[in-house]
Amino acid sequence: MSLIEVKGISKTYGTRKIFDSLSFSVESGGILIVEGQSGRGKTTLLHIMAGLDEPDEGTVIINGTDIFRLSENQRAKFRLEKIGIVFQQINLIEDLNVMENIALPLKLAGKRWKERVDELLKYMKIEDLKYQMPSALSGGEMQRCAIARAIANSPAIVIADEPTSNLDDENTRNIGDLFLKINRELGTTIVVATHDPRIHYITKNVLSLERGVDE
Ligand SMILES: Nc1ncnc2c1ncn2[C@@H]1O[C@H](COP(=O)(O)OP(=O)(O)O)[C@@H](O)[C@H]1O
Ligand SMILES: [Mg+2]
Repeated sequence: MSLIEVKGISKTYGTRKIFDSLSFSVESGGILIVEGQSGRGKTTLLHIMAGLDEPDEGTVIINGTDIFRLSENQRAKFRLEKIGIVFQQINLIEDLNVMENIALPLKLAGKRWKERVDELLKYMKIEDLKYQMPSALSGGEMQRCAIARAIANSPAIVIADEPTSNLDDENTRNIGDLFLKINRELGTTIVVATHDPRIHYITKNVLSLERGVDE
């Protein structure tokens, strides 16, 4: 069954057409890589799939729900429960330590968080970082922390934007393996946007935005 259905989305910024009636779907439990060089629209597409940005035409259906028929509040709640996002800029809150960053989505959802954060720290093998501030973390550690935060509410979907572009080979492999582990053990459907060939080993399922719509 398709968990995510992207249906005929078009998006134009100024005179630049980013997508023209783009459709595809992602199976429940699948892993999709969205590839394309910088500027091809990867971030725009992920933001539309997460309901953070609206398409000019078309829609996105997640688990049977047309996310653009929801009100903004309903969509925010839907996102909090169903979609974990690892942003291109990682977006850890600088004033909060690792524990507090990971606790954020749990607190927003009104859930108990202390034990769950410990469980997540253990799962991501970053127990030692619990009280560290983001500025003290390496790139790989930040990415683990961001992924822990993304899966905190056990979302059906994790969307990650260029998660390995600033990492060395070893950390890239670690992050790729972590996505595979989350996918296999938790059944999470994963969408990764990247122009990094080193992460392609995690799936055969690739959507290429390589050819622009106006070329
Ligand atoms: N809010 C925006 N306003 C205008 N142009 C934008 C905006 N967001 C992205 N773009 C443009 O859309 C194109 C695709 O951007 P983006 O989705 O960030 O691509 P990628 O993530 O593949 O690098 C780029 O040309 C970018 O400059
Ligand atoms: Mg991008």
